[in-house]
Amino acid sequence: MLDKRNELNAWDRDHFFHPSTHMGMHARGETPTRVIAGADGVYITDTTGKKSLDAFAGLYCVNVGYGREKIANAIAEQAKNLAYYHAYVGHGTEASITLSKMIIDRAPEGMSRVYFGLSGSDANETNIKLIWYYNNILGRPEKKKIISRWRGYHGSGVMTGSLTGLELFHKAFDLPRAPILHTEAPYFFRRADRAMNEEQFAQHCADRLEEMILAEGPETVAAFIGEPILGTGGIVPPPKTYWQKIQAVLEKYDVLLVADEVVTGFGRLGTMFGSDHYGMKPDLITIAKGLTSAYAPLSGSIVSDKVWQVLVQGSDQLGAIGHGWTYSAHPICAAAGIANLELVDELGIVENAGSTGAYFRSELSKAIGGHRHVGEVRGDGLMAAIEFVEDKDDRKFFDPAQKIGPQVAAALLERGVIGRAMPQGDILGFAPPLCLTREEADIVVKAAAGAIESVFSNR
Ligand SMILES: Cc1ncc(COP(=O)(O)O)c(C=O)c1O
Repeated sequence: MLDKRNELNAWDRDHFFHPSTHMGMHARGETPTRVIAGADGVYITDTTGKKSLDAFAGLYCVNVGYGREKIANAIAEQAKNLAYYHAYVGHGTEASITLSKMIIDRAPEGMSRVYFGLSGSDANETNIKLIWYYNNILGRPEKKKIISRWRGYHGSGVMTGSLTGLELFHKAFDLPRAPILHTEAPYFFRRADRAMNEEQFAQHCADRLEEMILAEGPETVAAFIGEPILGTGGIVPPPKTYWQKIQAVLEKYDVLLVADEVVTGFGRLGTMFGSDHYGMKPDLITIAKGLTSAYAPLSGSIVSDKVWQVLVQGSDQLGAIGHGWTYSAHPICAAAGIANLELVDELGIVENAGSTGAYFRSELSKAIGGHRHVGEVRGDGLMAAIEFVEDKDDRKFFDPAQKIGPQVAAALLERGVIGRAMPQGDILGFAPPLCLTREEADIVVKAAAGAIESVFSNR
């Protein structure tokens, strides 16, 4: 066993190009390799036998928890009966057609069709193309700019990495590319003017957006994209009335709204979609992660009836739409999606995300909210974040070189719990499986309090 482990570690360092990893440190063996061997419920186990409570659900995706036989069996059955057929030129499978219907039944009002992909990034890539196609068909070829937000996360491709508003994803990649622009992040805790209350700050964000649209020319601005709650940018709920104020501006200038629900779709905020939770009325919705709880890779662009009507007009003018992936609507992934959505209903995990989420966040605040280096405990549903500050009264942030966030995440892991050091700022994030129980939430809270105490005890 030890020989096998050593061999795997050597192969890993020599041959495996890991995403979002310090390449040199990993190849030189300066950072640990952790080989995950199995998982059950909310726990993962590595090849050394160490078990950890995964309070980030992989990458906020294993919503129904690990080891669900129902999904495993559905995948196996589909693989045996029909492992693949494509979806081009009107082809479908029972699984892909059924899943489309299940998604539209659960989606916010006014949604019409689902275009399937494999990742959140490719679904947003599809959205960008659909937005451009839409405006070309409507005879407004100059209306192509897409406004995203600083700290938004929408993927890692050329265009979707451009939509992403995080420095790490742009640096040395020559991103962002035109015609993508970024407006202010709805990040109340980090607002420049601390005298503003939430509603004033929401108005400030809407005003910045309107200024940008006017400066660029409304006839050039096609769409606005945002996650209902900022995820990778720091797990930041929108300030009160933010989405109402933003939507008023978008309507005024005929700008489409894309709700990126890759993280929030299928229950994370205690409602089926984040758009329902915050009163958003999107024209396009991006889904991925929770669609299959990551048992198989599957994403989708949900297209509203308003956009769909124009796309149909496009085909009538130009012929079949020139957009396709080989694996679009892959039947094995669709079978996983059906079994997963059935489980979401059977287990009542949307409701659980609301109730256990509220309990978890309240216990976290009680346990560590008063700590001198905890600037804020925030979140919504089963998403939570702790933001660390050097000085609470002055809201002075730590020098990033001190890597406070990663230190707390490492101390948490030593206590058997996985949280995520978010990439920009000293922020510890939680997004556990939506089947989390109160007892499991208590374990996470206790470990977080212990980790924070150990990192700051000597400061
Ligand atoms: C909101 C959001 N959109 C898009 C993506 C990209 O998804 P993927 O990593 O599957 O390409 C992510 C990934 O975390 C995300 O959080």
